[in-house]
Amino acid sequence: MIEFRNVSKVYSTGTEAVHNANFSIDKGEFAFLIGTSGSGKSTLIKLILKEEEPSDGNIIINGKDTTFLKRSRVPYLRRSMGIVFQDFRLLPDKTVYDNVAYAMYIVRATQRHIRRQVPMVLSLVGLSGKAKMYPHELSGGEQQRVALARALVNNPSMLIADEPTRKFRSRDCLGDNEFT
Ligand SMILES: Nc1ncnc2c1ncn2[C@@H]1O[C@H](COP(=O)(O)OP(=O)(O)OP(=O)(O)O)[C@@H](O)[C@H]1O
Ligand SMILES: [Mg+2]
Repeated sequence: MIEFRNVSKVYSTGTEAVHNANFSIDKGEFAFLIGTSGSGKSTLIKLILKEEEPSDGNIIINGKDTTFLKRSRVPYLRRSMGIVFQDFRLLPDKTVYDNVAYAMYIVRATQRHIRRQVPMVLSLVGLSGKAKMYPHELSGGEQQRVALARALVNNPSMLIADEPTRKFRSRDCLGDNEFT
């Protein structure tokens, strides 16, 4: 599902964040990337999302080489992924419920589907009681669980989380869902 072939990333500053990465992750597989601060973990994830371009090599997602993927197609690539960013990227002026609902709204889910799905994922991550709160009213771990709920709400075929174990154990929340 995700394959890196000889991928390197050198930032414009000259920092080589990823050096000749080769790996593949198949459907149903759990993969963990461990490394010290600054070793290139977030960069690798940004390459998968096509938020950054590789300086060298090829990245194949669901059988398609993303090297020549048009910018306009990137949102469609990302729809197959549930993403939890290291800095969560929650919308500060929206409630917990609306942060999650918004992810469904932008993929044009029906109101009916949104009303059914959002409470279900909030319950999955243990945040049913916090639906009306704003991000700044939550603890760091709770904010991260909102980000996880948002990543899961559209039933993505892969879940990508940057630092999922920093504030809670991801397995506590994932239940029996199958992710890459
Ligand atoms: N936009 C950028 N421009 C230039 N250099 C960058 C950029 N982003 C990251 N880097 C550098 O690339 C290297 C890898 O950074 P990255 O954020 O991928 O590390 P990380 O493994 O996620 O670290 P952490 O565990 O602290 O989150 C670091 O040396 C960092 O300074
Ligand atoms: Mg990082």
